[in-house]
Amino acid sequence: MNNPVLIIVMRYIHVLSFITLVGGLLYNMIGQRVARKILDSEKAEAFIDGFRSRILTFQWFAMLGLVVSGLFTWVITNEKYKAIGALGNALIGTKVMLAMGIFCVIWMRYSKLIKSDKTAMMINIHLAAIVILLGSILRYYRLSLGS
Ligand code: HEM
Repeated sequence: MNNPVLIIVMRYIHVLSFITLVGGLLYNMIGQRVARKILDSEKAEAFIDGFRSRILTFQWFAMLGLVVSGLFTWVITNEKYKAIGALGNALIGTKVMLAMGIFCVIWMRYSKLIKSDKTAMMINIHLAAIVILLGSILRYYRLSLGS
């Protein structure tokens, strides 16, 4: 699996997907606030419903992209995480678990198990901030091993 094109494409997909996922979250949060401020409540709710379902379509693809590219990168980089030691395994394990938490919250909101958009978005913005931080720390330790 040492194909440089595949590795670059997978990294590209990972970056594009997390930008889409987190960008969609932020856009939805801000869009809902603005809609409720400038439209009367009936129009605002209609706008929010349409807006949310469009963003969600992009987010389903982003989740698929994250899982495929993330697992690929994990598999080909696992030896380096082992070489980092317990910290490497803890970082990747926590990152993936929290990423699953994000997907779970999106699905729970979609299935109406979480009733409010605001609750789902607040949980996910915070989880995403931690996942991005863990991804960056992991990358630092992996690169400091010289690869
Ligand atoms: C099943 C889900 C996921 C898996 C298996 C996964 C796995 C990975 C792996 C293995 C890396 C490489 C770290 C390194 O450079 O050594 C990575 C990087 C990264 N991931 Fe994920 N990830 C997932 C979901 C997410 C999500 C949901 C986000 C954002 C909300 C995210 C954000 C990042 C960031 C910011 C990086 C660093 C990118 C870079 O600098 O190249 N990941 N991920």
